[in-house]
Amino acid sequence: MPLLEVNNLTKRFGGLVANDRINIEIEEGEIVGLIGPNGAGKTTLFNCIAGFYTPDEGSVCFAGEEITGFPPERVCKRGIARTFQLVRVFKGMTVLDNVMVGAFSRIPDADGAREKALEVLEFVGELENKDLLAGGLTVAHKKRVEMARALATDPRLLMLDEAIAGLNPKETEEAVELIGEIRRKGITIFLVEHVMSVIMPISDRIIVLDYGKIIAEGLPQEIATNEKVIKAYLGERYRAAS
Ligand SMILES: Nc1ncnc2c1ncn2[C@@H]1O[C@H](COP(=O)(O)OP(=O)(O)OP(=O)(O)O)[C@@H](O)[C@H]1O
Ligand SMILES: [Mg+2]
Repeated sequence: MPLLEVNNLTKRFGGLVANDRINIEIEEGEIVGLIGPNGAGKTTLFNCIAGFYTPDEGSVCFAGEEITGFPPERVCKRGIARTFQLVRVFKGMTVLDNVMVGAFSRIPDADGAREKALEVLEFVGELENKDLLAGGLTVAHKKRVEMARALATDPRLLMLDEAIAGLNPKETEEAVELIGEIRRKGITIFLVEHVMSVIMPISDRIIVLDYGKIIAEGLPQEIATNEKVIKAYLGERYRAAS
């Protein structure tokens, strides 16, 4: 049984079909990359899975249970955590408190939540910043805090929406390393990225969206040479380089 199953999911905004009959299966332990041009519907799909939007048609099943239309906090309790394309930390709260918010989704007492948050902050490399206000951090640090907040909910599936966008080369390398470590913990990862040199090597499988539809799905090397994908997204220059 797949960990995540998206069946025939459609999401419309007025006349615009942002997700058009999407079918996806993700197995436990996989890293699956989602790519496609701007406006293809990647974030919308994440929002439908995570309960921020209710799909107009179709269903989302997680660990064998239908979760379609569940509000975000219920989806989170089932084991799906996510980060946001435009980083969203609680700016006026400390780094530690930000991550405790995640921990509280499962651990009701403050001491337990603090312990969990400290453990996750150490894991992502942000422990030394625990007492700083999250709003004052650089983007790279904010993104790590956001990832820590997601991990503190003890997810089985972590969805990362452009976790690497806007990072410099060194920060990118660290983020890629962290994603590898998250997977080694046994957490399944579904990620959106535009940086091909990042998403191709870390993904087991890639799904390509264009105008709300899946136009290709396969191993990274298959996707890199797929004519439809080159036309819609990667471009001829990518083919020449690869
Ligand atoms: N809340 C909304 N209301 C109306 N239209 C929306 C809404 N959210 C997204 N859209 C539209 O749906 C389409 C898909 O947007 P989405 O943000 O999912 O794309 P994306 O693949 O994540 O793009 P990007 O790579 O730029 O992040 C776009 O045309 C967008 O303008
Ligand atoms: Mg997006």
